[in-house]
Amino acid sequence: MAIRKIVQIGDEVLRKRCFEVSDFGEKTKQLLDDMRDTLIKAEGAGLAAPQVGVLRRIFIVDVDGEYYEMLNPVILEQSGKQYGVEGCLSVVGKWGDVERPKKLKVKYQDRNGNYKTLVAEDFLAKAICHENDHLNGVLYVDKADNLRTEV
Ligand code: CO
Repeated sequence: MAIRKIVQIGDEVLRKRCFEVSDFGEKTKQLLDDMRDTLIKAEGAGLAAPQVGVLRRIFIVDVDGEYYEMLNPVILEQSGKQYGVEGCLSVVGKWGDVERPKKLKVKYQDRNGNYKTLVAEDFLAKAICHENDHLNGVLYVDKADNLRTEV
């Protein structure tokens, strides 16, 4: 168990494209465990590997008691629209409004390398989109309207 330091906006690591995960061994499992501890401590809804300085296509989301670890995620389908507030653990103290799909289908690998698909809606879909953007060096502030210092 370990809490990792969350990188803040301005650090170039947040702007890089992450590499595919090919190692499903102990090092990756340790990273996932640490990311979960870090997310719980930060009281966030999601965390992507580059936010702890690791350029791998990995993120975790924890929404309404549903916890997912997604490695090499690919959004296959998306539909509808939702528009609402987002924040980011790498952009402390700011919020902004972003348009996201209302519903999506994502395929990914779990920590053991097994392939899964998930259909997500509403907040979970929003969180997956936000975290997936991190894997391509994109931050929500790039897309947000009405960026502000209060929710
Ligand atoms: Co974020």
